[in-house]
Amino acid sequence: MVSVSWDKRDAYYRLAKEQNWRARSAFKLIQIDEQFDLFSYADPSQCTRVVDLCAAPGSWSQVLSRILIKGESFGRRAWVEKMEKFQKHAPSGPNPSTSTLKDDMVSLSLQTPSSGLKPRPNVRIVAIDLQPMAPLEGIVQLKADITHPSTVPLLLKAIDPDFDQHNETHRVDLVISDGAPDVTGLHDLDIYVQSQLLYSALTLAMKVLRPGGKFVAKIFRGRNVDMIFAQLKLVFERVHIAKPRSSRASSIEAFVVCEGYTPVKNWTPELGDALEIPQPSKPPTSVSEKQMRHLREDGIVELHFEDEETDPRRWIAPFLACGDLSAWDADATYKLPEGHTSLPPVQPPTAPPYKDAIERRRAEGGAYGKTKDRSNATHQGEK
Ligand SMILES: C[S@@+](CC[C@H](N)C(=O)[O-])C[C@H]1O[C@@H](n2cnc3c(N)ncnc32)[C@H](O)[C@@H]1O
Repeated sequence: MVSVSWDKRDAYYRLAKEQNWRARSAFKLIQIDEQFDLFSYADPSQCTRVVDLCAAPGSWSQVLSRILIKGESFGRRAWVEKMEKFQKHAPSGPNPSTSTLKDDMVSLSLQTPSSGLKPRPNVRIVAIDLQPMAPLEGIVQLKADITHPSTVPLLLKAIDPDFDQHNETHRVDLVISDGAPDVTGLHDLDIYVQSQLLYSALTLAMKVLRPGGKFVAKIFRGRNVDMIFAQLKLVFERVHIAKPRSSRASSIEAFVVCEGYTPVKNWTPELGDALEIPQPSKPPTSVSEKQMRHLREDGIVELHFEDEETDPRRWIAPFLACGDLSAWDADATYKLPEGHTSLPPVQPPTAPPYKDAIERRRAEGGAYGKTKDRSNATHQGEK
């Protein structure tokens, strides 16, 4: 049964179903692209080979497929293209009637133009996730763990079937990663696990990106996030932090958008190693190195800074909110149009990790019976 309450509380959840996206995250990528021109529209040959890490259920891969393979446009770009076309076909310049403009605004959020598609030649897209993903046309899919070293050769082979380990070249234009662990609600733990995913995504990106390539990854904004930016700044010319309008303001989620990859000479990152990007500037002295990392007896590494404010290993990345200001507010509840029918999800997960638990609960007598018994038992036990 489909509930309308989420349709009301989350405009992007509703729009995703109406526009045939597998997840509302599609809008995040579209809005980041609006701000940063991820897909290099002016010179499409600059963006034809893309890796989508942590891709399931596949809405980012859908965006890649529809923009790069089919040549569709979305969001503000679709609207601008539509207006340009309109002006071209009405050279004498009559003002579009209010109703036409209104129709355009509506269709902007509901559909993309079917005419004027601009498919790109030789597109190669590889998507990786721990979870299986329903197939998508034109996308090579791998079921693998991005933190595991064995994933690297799989990825390189998937990008280039003729890949030769002895002739390694950087070949990918863009690496995107929307990786997220199962969130526990314990912010420090969630941020830590998320940062491990980010390091793995970055390591993979540095293995496959061409010089000048781009990297986009989800981060959770925590206390030491400026250290991550400083590290990214060592291998990318420009680093920004982006918060798309479709990402709830109340969430600590944001995205690093890194442009202009500059590989470090004679250095190849390896998955599994701690990520220590060589610093081009003066290396820290052994004294400050000692001061920086301290291994406690319980095995936890503490980081210290001589001066929290001025340490060169910290750097604040410019923060950009992206997505049109007139776009839907992810934190607002909207009134649904009269007669609204709530649609089912476009692509439910094919084998979610919780499937087993649901099946066992059903076998044991349904969600409510057993849960109630157990909670009573707990309460009694506590007394
Ligand atoms: C927020 S979802 C990604 C949504 C996706 N971008 C989309 O648009 O449909 C996060 C994904 O990260 C994946 N993930 C988490 N840890 C991973 C790992 N170590 N390796 C590969 N995928 C991982 C999860 O399985 C999950 O599918």
